Amino acid sequence: MKKIIAFESSCDDTCVAIVAEDGRIISEVSASSAQAYEIFGGVVPEIGSRAHIEQIHALTKIAFLEANLTPQDIDAVAATFAPGLLGPLLVGAQFAKGLAVSLSRPLIAVHHLEGHILSGLGEADFLPLPFVALVVSGGHTALYRCDEDYRMSKLGETLDDAAGEAFDKIGRTLGFAYPAGKIIDELAQQGHHKRFYFPKMMPEKVDVNFSFSGLKTHAMSIIKKYAPFDQQMLADFCAGLAHSIASSLCDRTIRALKQQHLSSLVIGGGVAANSQLRAMLSARCREENFRLYLPRTSLCTDNAAIIGRAALMHIARRQQSSLALDVKARLPIEEKESLTCPILQP
Ligand code: KG4
Ligand code: ZN
Repeated sequence: MKKIIAFESSCDDTCVAIVAEDGRIISEVSASSAQAYEIFGGVVPEIGSRAHIEQIHALTKIAFLEANLTPQDIDAVAATFAPGLLGPLLVGAQFAKGLAVSLSRPLIAVHHLEGHILSGLGEADFLPLPFVALVVSGGHTALYRCDEDYRMSKLGETLDDAAGEAFDKIGRTLGFAYPAGKIIDELAQQGHHKRFYFPKMMPEKVDVNFSFSGLKTHAMSIIKKYAPFDQQMLADFCAGLAHSIASSLCDRTIRALKQQHLSSLVIGGGVAANSQLRAMLSARCREENFRLYLPRTSLCTDNAAIIGRAALMHIARRQQSSLALDVKARLPIEEKESLTCPILQP
C-alpha cells in the first residue's frame, strides 16, 4: 500500500504525519511553539519560523520511527503551501521539496483549508458531494460549498475576528494561556450559560457572514464589571461565551444549508473541537434531517494527517505540484487547484 508523508507548518504548530493510501494514519507527531510567544498573546511569525526550523527535522525522524518506516518507503511528499504565515509556511514547504527531490518522489502542495474541510474523511469513508463546510479556527471562520471534483467556493465569512480569535482574546483578558479555546470549553462544562447575558450576532441579517467583535466588546465589559470572578462565576461566564459563539456559528451554518438546498455538513478547524458547538450542531442537524460529518477532535486543530489525506485526493486525481511552486500567504479556496497540475504521462 502506498504511503505519503505530510507537513503542516502554516501557523504555530509544526506537524508531520505518515498516512496510508486508504487514509489510515500510520504516525502523527506535532510540536507547538505557542509557549514561545505566550507573553505576546498571539502568534509572532518570526519566532514561529525559527521554532519550525528547530523542530521539523526531529519530528520527521520521530514520525518515521513511530511508523517503523524509512524515507525510502514513502511514495509522495505533501505540505501546506497556502494560506498562512509566510515564514512558517516556507519552512514546511522547503523541507518537503528537499525530501521530494532527494527521494525522487512527487510533491503535493495542499491548501490548508482544504485539509480542514476534508478532515471529516476518515470518520466517514467518503463525503457525499455536494456539501456545505464550516471551517472555524483561530485564523478562519467561513462557510464553503464543495461540489464535484472537490471544487470549493466561499459562501460567507467573518467580517472581523475569527471565532477562535475571539476565544483567545477574551481568554487572554481572563489570564488564560494562548490558545484559550480549549480551557474555556472545559470550564464551560461546569457552568450555566444563562447567568450572564451575551448578545446574539446580527439577528437582523439574512446572509451567512459572521461577526464576533460586538460579542468580544460585550464580554470585556462583563469582565470589567464583575472581575475578579469566583470559580463558579468564571465557569458561568465561559458557558455563556461558548454558548453564544456556538449558537451564532450554528444559526449561520443551518441557514447556509437551507439557502444552498443541501443536506450534508462537514466541519473542521480548531473550534470544531468545541463541545457546545458539536452538541448544538448535532441536535440541529438531527432536527432538520441533515447529515453531519464531525472529525475526531484530535483532527480539528492543525495537524499534518489532514494535509496528507487531502493530498491523497489529489493523487487519486493524478495531480502533483511543481518544485518551482512558491508558498502563498493568501490564496482563495476557489484557486486551490493552482497548487497542483496533472501528472505528465511518460
Ligand atoms: O485550526 P487551528 O489549530 O489553527 C488555525 O488554523 O487557526 O485552530 C486553533 C484555534 C485556537 O483559536 C483555539 O483557541 C481554538 O482553535 N480551539 C478551541 C478548542 N480547541 C481549540 N476553541 C473552542 N473550543 C475548543 N475545544
Ligand atoms: Zn488551521
